[in-house]
Formats: sequence, structure tokens, C-alpha cells
Amino acid sequence: MNKLSYVVVIVVLACLVSHSWAEISRVPLIPQANFTRTKSNVKAEKSILASKYLKETTTGPTGRYLVLHNYQNAAYYGVMSIGKPKKYFNIRFDTGSANLWVPSINCPSTNVACRQHAKYDSSASSSYVANGENITIDYGTESVVGYLSTDIVRTNNIPIRSQTFMEATSVPSSFINAPYAGIWGLAFQSIAVGNVTPPLDNMIAQGQLSEPLISFYLKRDGTDLKGGELIFGGIDSTLYTGSLTYVPVSVEGYWQFEVTSIDTNDVNLCSDCQAIADTGTPLIVVPQAAYADINDQIGAVDNGDGSAFVDCDQQSSLPDVNFSIGGTTFTLTPSDYIVEVTDDDDNVYCMSSFTYLAGYDFWILGDVFIGKFYTVFDKGNSQIGFAPAVTS
Ligand SMILES: *[C@@H]1O[C@H](CO)[C@@H](O)[C@H](O)[C@H]1NC(C)=O
Ligand SMILES: *[C@@H]1O[C@H](CO)[C@@H](O)[C@H](O)[C@H]1NC(C)=O
Ligand SMILES: *[C@@H]1O[C@H](CO)[C@@H](O)[C@H](O)[C@H]1NC(C)=O
Repeated sequence: MNKLSYVVVIVVLACLVSHSWAEISRVPLIPQANFTRTKSNVKAEKSILASKYLKETTTGPTGRYLVLHNYQNAAYYGVMSIGKPKKYFNIRFDTGSANLWVPSINCPSTNVACRQHAKYDSSASSSYVANGENITIDYGTESVVGYLSTDIVRTNNIPIRSQTFMEATSVPSSFINAPYAGIWGLAFQSIAVGNVTPPLDNMIAQGQLSEPLISFYLKRDGTDLKGGELIFGGIDSTLYTGSLTYVPVSVEGYWQFEVTSIDTNDVNLCSDCQAIADTGTPLIVVPQAAYADINDQIGAVDNGDGSAFVDCDQQSSLPDVNFSIGGTTFTLTPSDYIVEVTDDDDNVYCMSSFTYLAGYDFWILGDVFIGKFYTVFDKGNSQIGFAPAVTS
């Protein structure tokens, strides 16, 4: 059994077991076993991120795209199926994009990422409905190409009837060896390519969720097979401490909201700034001025590419970084925001999670933040909630 099918079987079993929950429905999220990041991987990831967000700021309402991440960075994914009978896929759940796509049987075997992963075959599904509109999800240097199809999509046995998704006929090389086949976008329809109704919207419209929201609990322990939970339609108060602090969504595209201030060492890094909560981004991406300030405060040296490193011996003496959101202070400590990366010669470096990408001015709070703070994405009330996640 290869590694991918092993993961699929384990997760399918986990889904069967967990389905005894009636009210709220969970997908176990699994980070890949090997949490090691190399400097080149970080670079690859950053270039993908750069094109993702630059595309958004430069093409207006029509150019939309999905997250693609380097598989050797922290990534959280679960299992879904399409069609009748069910065809299973590992999928990455991404609150920073809004389309669902999986590889197509019509993706040629010369495409290595397609060859390695499960593929959707419309002729094998009795519930398939043709659409055929070609779409391209553009990443600047990379893109996913394919066409729309409609079928029953399920995750955790929640059926979504008549869900339109993209069958990819060309998948970028960043998916080679990734433990997931495609992406399930959980953001708002306004950033969906082809203006397709996102699966979460259909799930809600079809009355499948007891509450019109989802929540994420991401474990930061990358070696644990059960790496976290994505809860459809519910909030589990055993997974956080204290109470949730809610802030309204400020722009319904990404899950975007206003942060009152971000401070470290009594230095203000932002006030009344915009941020998004993005499960598809492993780190925290900050605007340029804040990037310079934060490096000054933590003594990090820029690597010349928007990533910055500290002396590992200094880690414990670094300051906390405080995020004031909706009247509550959310604190990241050095052990939260410093990640160890290993180069090809096994040298270990301590990288700041605060990275920079040219060309946009909002903060992207990725898995480093969402892993520390249980996050509720409340579609029904157009708000986001955070509370300190329990650590086990
Ligand atoms: C993790 O990755 C490193 C670097 O590529 C490799 O040396 C190591 O064997 C991997 N460990 C596992 C458990 O796959
Ligand atoms: C979609 O693209 C394919 C391959 O390039 C082409 O053969 C087909 O005619 C296109 N379909 C539509 C509806 O434009
Ligand atoms: C962060 O917030 C806490 C609680 O409000 C406060 O005690 C601490 O001094 C703040 N730290 C920084 C670096 O601003």
C-alpha cells in the first residue's frame, strides 16, 4: 500500500467512527508526517504565495485563484468524495480561496501531479452533470487548468447536491508528492473563479449544517496522525479556553477583518489594519513597514527574500507579539512564531513566521496563528471568532 492510500484508508475509518456525531460534523485534519522545512521549500512556498496575493490585487474581480503550497510545509487536509459511487480524494481545506478542484481522468499521465493522485472520472459516476466551461486558475508563474463539472460532493458524509467544481487537466508541479490531490476553498463566492457557488454555501443552502458556520482546530504537533479538526456546522468549546471573541467580516472575499492593533515591545506594528484568516497559509505574512519593524524588535536578519532568521540561542529572550482583536489580546510567544527550518546539509535555522511579500498591505494570519487560536468562520453572521486553542 502506498503512502497516499494508507492515509486515505485511515481517514476514511476515522470519518466512519466520528460520524456518530449528529449535530456537528468533523473532518480530521492531518498534517503531513514530516514537518521539516528546508530553506528552498520556504522559498518555493513564498513564490506561490506571492503570486496568489499579487494576482488578487492586480486583476480585479475576474482573476481568482487557489492556494498551492509546498507539501513539506505544514499543511492540513482531510478526505472528501465526489460522485456515485464515491470517489475519494485527500483535499486541503483552504479559507483563503473559494473554488473546489480535483485532478481529472482527462489530465494526461505526463502530468506527474495528476499521475500520482486520485482522479475524477465523470463516466464512472451516475450522478454526474456536464458543464464543460473551461477555467484557468492563475498563479502568475503557475496555474491550474481544467473545466467545470457538477456532481454530488461529500465530506464526512455530508452530501452537497449539484456542486460545481473544476476537473483539473493540468496540475502544477508544486502538487508533486503532496499528500493531498486538490483544494477545497472555503472563502466567499466573490473570489471564486467562474463565479461558482462554493461548496460551503451549497451545504448551508441545502440545510446540511445545524449552524451556518465552520470552525478549525489545528494542532501544531506535526507528528500526530490526527492533526486537528474542521468542524462543519458547529463550535466545540472543549477545544478552546475562555470565550470566543468575534469581529465582523470587513470584506466578503477572503475571511477579512479589522485588527485594532499589533504590538511588540511597546512598538506598534499596525493600528486599525486589515487581516485575513487563512488556513492555506502556513506562516504569517505582514506588510512591508511592519516587517521591518518586527525584525528590528526581534533581532531577525532578513534573508533578502522576505524571510528573516534569528539566532536560535536567542529564541527564549524574544518578545511576545500581541494582536488586539475585538477588544481581546491574542499573544504569540517566540515558541509560537519561530519555526525551525533545516537545509540540505541538516543545518538548523530559526526562522521568523513573520514573512513579507511585496505588493499588498494586509496581514495574512496563517496556520501559525490559527493553530494557537481556535477559529470560527461564521458565514451566517459574517463574522470570525477566536479563542485560545487547548494544547494537548
Ligand atoms: C523528513 O525529511 C528529511 C529531510 O528531507 C529526511 O531526511 C527525513 O528522513 C524525513 N523523515 C521522515 C520521517 O520522512
Ligand atoms: C475547452 O478546452 C478544450 C481543450 O482546449 C477545447 O477542446 C474545448 O473546446 C473547450 N471547451 C469550451 C466549452 O470552450
Ligand atoms: C501583551 O499583552 C499582555 C496582556 O495584555 C501584556 O501583559 C504584555 O505586556 C504585552 N506584551 C507586549 C510585548 O506588548
